[in-house]
Amino acid sequence: MPHIARMYDYWLGGKDNYAADRAVADQITAIFPDILVNVRAQRAFLGRVVRYLAADAGIWQFLDIGTGLPSANNTHEVAQRFVPQSRVVYVDNSPVVLAHARALLSSGPQGVTAFIEADLRDPGRILAEAARTLDLSRPVAVLLLGVLSFIPDDEDPAAIVARLMAAVPPGSYLAVAHPASDIAAEQVARSVRRYNHQARDPVTARTYAEVGRCFDGLDLVEPGLVQLHRWRAGTEDLTGGLELPNYGGVGRKP
Ligand SMILES: C[S@@+](CC[C@H](N)C(=O)[O-])C[C@H]1O[C@@H](n2cnc3c(N)ncnc32)[C@H](O)[C@@H]1O
Repeated sequence: MPHIARMYDYWLGGKDNYAADRAVADQITAIFPDILVNVRAQRAFLGRVVRYLAADAGIWQFLDIGTGLPSANNTHEVAQRFVPQSRVVYVDNSPVVLAHARALLSSGPQGVTAFIEADLRDPGRILAEAARTLDLSRPVAVLLLGVLSFIPDDEDPAAIVARLMAAVPPGSYLAVAHPASDIAAEQVARSVRRYNHQARDPVTARTYAEVGRCFDGLDLVEPGLVQLHRWRAGTEDLTGGLELPNYGGVGRKP
């Protein structure tokens, strides 16, 4: 069966993917050619967010849920470039992802990385296991990049986010990247249908307002919730006026 982490790997030019992943990824590329720019833009967003959190916001603890297959500039690499003592807990519900991650995502000498095989639907377990590595009485950045879309509406993704953020102290941050249903709406709807028809875990794209609900009770960092290739992109934004159906934002717990 196709798996989103291996499809991402394929779109990013990696080698950890199979024919089933490539077939669906190619079908989606045919419907929505900008998916390639979109996936790269999400990785670039991850890099800018982690750099901002480590270099500007004073964060040295990261809980990265929905890790994906290792690629360039993984969370701990970016964080430890700026703060070598950074501690990063990676969480994914895919054993394949965790096997690769354990093999490749080793920490710098002053920091720590840890791996948890767990589902975002079980925030209690994630927090309990993360507490072995992170000091949850000190600020933590919770990264939910490309993963909340795997929680259907009837499982209340905003409530899961609220539970995670309730467990970390003021001064903690939330970062979200989430596919948009209200930009390039027709292409997104067709791509989502095509993926859901063939994959095990269905994906849900959401409107600006729906994604915004994840930040309830948090102060959005400038420039707020935007198409993620425009988030603090500066000279990195090589996409011109392209409209990408992918929202990104960072919020701070007051
Ligand atoms: C699209 S990839 C995102 C990778 C990376 N965060 C990024 O932004 O480049 C989504 C990842 O989330 C994982 N995932 C999907 N549903 C999940 C769930 N319910 N709990 C934990 N991880 C999940 C998948 O296995 C996959 O590795």
